[in-house]
Amino acid sequence: MQQQVSSGEWLHIHRHDVRILDDLDAVSQAVIDELATIVPLVLAEQDTFSIALSGGSTPKRLLAMLAKLGRDALPWDKIEVFFGDERCVAPDHADSNYRMAKDSLFDPLKLDGKRIHRMRGEDTDPAGAAKAYEDELRPLCRDGGWPVFDYVLLGMGSDGHTASLFPGSPALHDVARWCVANEVDSPLTKGKATRLTLTAAAINHARRVRFLVCGADKAEALDHVLQGGARHEEYPAQLIHPYAGRLVWFVDRAAAAKLEDRTETVRKGST
Ligand code: 6PG
Repeated sequence: MQQQVSSGEWLHIHRHDVRILDDLDAVSQAVIDELATIVPLVLAEQDTFSIALSGGSTPKRLLAMLAKLGRDALPWDKIEVFFGDERCVAPDHADSNYRMAKDSLFDPLKLDGKRIHRMRGEDTDPAGAAKAYEDELRPLCRDGGWPVFDYVLLGMGSDGHTASLFPGSPALHDVARWCVANEVDSPLTKGKATRLTLTAAAINHARRVRFLVCGADKAEALDHVLQGGARHEEYPAQLIHPYAGRLVWFVDRAAAAKLEDRTETVRKGST
């Protein structure tokens, strides 16, 4: 009988804090609950709260739930919204991460566009767009150093990528730049593609980084990322370990299935 971790239980795997919840709704609600606590605390110390959103499908539910709570649930007039990555498409393209967030959250809450900082995926010069995004990030810099996000949301692909840091792609080990145009080649991007992405170094300067990982298709990669050896080229999500901030994984039971398997093996071995 496989040992089931009860939902809501915390696992501490190789110094990672992993919170296992029943499903996508529960994962999304856990993030909302955390934001409801953290945002006011941060705003008691500073004027704005900066958050970087991830793309893909997982965060859609979170953004829709935030929208449903209404404008008063969070102090949106003090929240600066950024993006972790963007596809090189127009902002109204179906594949645009900005379009997903606009439809799910910005439009329903009528958020002020001045506080929404999108990456210009439509630019014909992606490297120039990445450089321009670094200018957008400059107000987050402390003492002339790196930009420091208060909160970064990340997803993880079934191949262990995060943001647009895909296995074997050139941007993986860029420790000098904050945002780059990354040349990727993955079945998940339907072959070769250029993506705009924060670098792992930029993400690792954040105060809080949160992975949202849901679905059985992520179980294999999550096991490798959290419990396998260091294989950053193959599993770029392993590159995320905030230098001073805290990383928490919010995962659903389906994505955590392999974690439970391994726990079971260890238990057997230890009896
Ligand atoms: C993107 C994301 C990407 C995403 C993962 C998971 O632009 O697609 O930033 O890193 O978080 O691919 O995507 P799903 O949530 O759709 O599984």
